[in-house]
Amino acid sequence: MPRKILVAVAWPYVNGEPHLGHIAGMNVPADIFARYHRIVGNEVAMVSGSDMHGTPTMLKAVEEGISPEEVAGRYHEIWSKALEDMSFSYDLYTHTHTARHIEISQEIFTRLKENGHLVEATQSMPFSETEQRFLSDRFVEGTCPYCGYDSARGDQCDDCGRTLDPVDLIDIRSKRDGSTPVFKDTTHQMFKLGDFQERLEEWVSGKDEWRANVRNQTLSMLREGLHDRAMTRDIEWGVPVPLECYESKRIYVWFEAVIGYLSATRAWAEQQGTPDEWKKFWVEPDGETYYFQGKDNVSFHTILLPSILMGSGGLNLPTDVVANEYLNLGGVDFSKSKGHAVWVPDFLTRYEADPLRYYLASIMPETSDSEFTWAGFHAANNNELVATFGNFVHRVLTITTRNFENAIPTPADLDEDDQAALDACDTALNEVSAAIDARHFRDGLRAAMRLARHGNQYIDIKEPWKVVKTDKESAGTALWVGINIISTLRTVFYPYLPTSADKIHSMLFSDSDTLADGWDRREIVPGSPIEKPSPLFRKLDDSIIEEENKRLTDE
Ligand code: MF3
Ligand code: ZN
Repeated sequence: MPRKILVAVAWPYVNGEPHLGHIAGMNVPADIFARYHRIVGNEVAMVSGSDMHGTPTMLKAVEEGISPEEVAGRYHEIWSKALEDMSFSYDLYTHTHTARHIEISQEIFTRLKENGHLVEATQSMPFSETEQRFLSDRFVEGTCPYCGYDSARGDQCDDCGRTLDPVDLIDIRSKRDGSTPVFKDTTHQMFKLGDFQERLEEWVSGKDEWRANVRNQTLSMLREGLHDRAMTRDIEWGVPVPLECYESKRIYVWFEAVIGYLSATRAWAEQQGTPDEWKKFWVEPDGETYYFQGKDNVSFHTILLPSILMGSGGLNLPTDVVANEYLNLGGVDFSKSKGHAVWVPDFLTRYEADPLRYYLASIMPETSDSEFTWAGFHAANNNELVATFGNFVHRVLTITTRNFENAIPTPADLDEDDQAALDACDTALNEVSAAIDARHFRDGLRAAMRLARHGNQYIDIKEPWKVVKTDKESAGTALWVGINIISTLRTVFYPYLPTSADKIHSMLFSDSDTLADGWDRREIVPGSPIEKPSPLFRKLDDSIIEEENKRLTDE
């Protein structure tokens, strides 16, 4: 029975371009996971979109002197293209300003209201006297009462990850004009998160396989106790509140953004003409849902989203929330450093997606922060992709095409080394599979690379380029075994390096593609035609390290 796997990737705010920190933390792991589950034959939907509403986009609009809609539209295009250029295999990448998303968010809001989980309350909120408007969420900044971080925002502290209310902030100031707001009463719809405290505790206590950072953040918030939180805001840009007297207010951006996973799955199902398909993931009891994101998103996915799902009833809770730590650049946090970043669109004008996917997967901040360096990228590309993986493939296929008339040789009897090499293929398939399924992406990549290394060692022992002159049959056997390894490398690297995997596929086989072959060691049929190889990876000049570092500091 195929498993049903929803791959839910965090929705980026479209107030800027994607940088390597974004994609290392969420898109790369999500895509590895989605591609793996597709190739093993499971049913997969991978969805996300641009998070268009709320104060982040509004702030950018103020900065640029254009409307939030224009800002969101522009960066949505940039994000969509970058995600595609990275070969991230979304079944749907949409955004939160679609009619369908607005409708579904309002429906769920109404259901929570009807079920008694949303109640009206008067709240004291920061109000700007200079602008005569309320300031919510990211419109205000101040010091975090929990950890003392001095640039905590009205909705959240980036340092300790706690969700905040503006009243919590010490030395509060407006991010729009620097003025000090006063506090004024306003009415809002409060979500009674306390209604779900016990059920959340019980649910999280069963999640032993979650990463420690995710579990601990969640448990500590539960220990502090959940209290009511406002799910409406006094702003103009967002999803209208489906209640009378709320015309000037909008639904809180996080409330509707997390509903995006559901609305996008439904929109995807509708667009492909199977409108009930979303239920496989969201309603059927064996549907599995995995959420990929950075660590600052955890509480929204382990507290807010499950509370919304429980409160509306009949919807599956997250199977796992896979949150990464941060990827730093030269010791500076990507998100906190203005301008000090490597932007994906710019990166892709000079380098290819697969080497970047490889390097980011190899340094993925799974359990602690990690660091992107240009020297590291250069080394990963030249020493691992070119010298180990690419070189092995190239050697085997060049010797084969030169000496066996562009056809796969016929193996004779296999000796111990041959058998060990074939066994290594099966081991790699098993190890990579177990690692990816357990969301241990670095381990999976290491296991795949071990097979490439084994391939090189094997071919060094067999020396088919020499042996072919005296014993063509033995050389043919070694090359046949080598082609088995190449074919398996194609499979185990497919989740990580899809373009390279398909390049290998087209050199070895004339039918369909890697995905169609499934997660198996494909039979290598003697006599089948193969192509003269073209290089899989391009060697990078040593000079790029200095050039790129200079580019970073010049910015
Ligand atoms: N836009 C948020 C961020 O960039 C993430 C939203 S994820 C969602 O941090 F679940 F709310 F959609
Ligand atoms: Zn804090």
